[in-house]
Amino acid sequence: MKFFLDTADVNAIRELNDLGMVDGVTTNPSLILKAGRNIEEVTAEICAMVSGPVSAEVVAEKAEDMIREGRHLAKIAKNIAIKVPLTWDGLKACRAFADDGHMVNVTLCFSPAQAILAAKAGATFISPFIGRLDDIHLDGADLIADIREIYDNYGYETQILAASIRSVNHIIEVAKIGADVITAPPAVITSMAKHILTDKGLEQFTADWAKTGQKIG
Ligand code: E4P
Repeated sequence: MKFFLDTADVNAIRELNDLGMVDGVTTNPSLILKAGRNIEEVTAEICAMVSGPVSAEVVAEKAEDMIREGRHLAKIAKNIAIKVPLTWDGLKACRAFADDGHMVNVTLCFSPAQAILAAKAGATFISPFIGRLDDIHLDGADLIADIREIYDNYGYETQILAASIRSVNHIIEVAKIGADVITAPPAVITSMAKHILTDKGLEQFTADWAKTGQKIG
């Protein structure tokens, strides 16, 4: 399973990238706002740091404007994946970018039907938003399972990029189903290392070691 970081925070990306854990990065307009950076500058910085795909999102609504924006963003670096919304215009732009030879991430996917269209339009990645489905009391993991089954039935090569990940449980659920990639905030990735029994066990070992009066080295 590939790990993408869902952030435009370069310091957080650097920390995990130095551990060799970052296979790519996803950004969106809200994350660019949160980072408080210019989209082209911050995207160039991320692309120089991370060798895998870095998603940069278009903001236009009409296909022709998305195509202009996406081609502009693609000039930032070779590892840009142009991110388009799952609208009819977004699918048209996806086809144009795929024909250009660019990677495309089709975002804001909430149904298997939408995921089929993205694959047909040549998407490199489809981003089903599981957390936002859970927010409205639907099961985001069910969507990942449906898309996995359909893509496998027909051998679609579009990679399932489970997005809107809010917890470690989300990661484990979609890993069991077979999502190709997850994109998660850095804090969710680091919290994968936490377990209450690890903390408790370490506390005990530390206390017992102090009683031995020994030192290592
Ligand atoms: C995906 O590429 C999006 O940037 C992201 O996962 C959205 O997550 P959110 O629902 O937590 O905003």
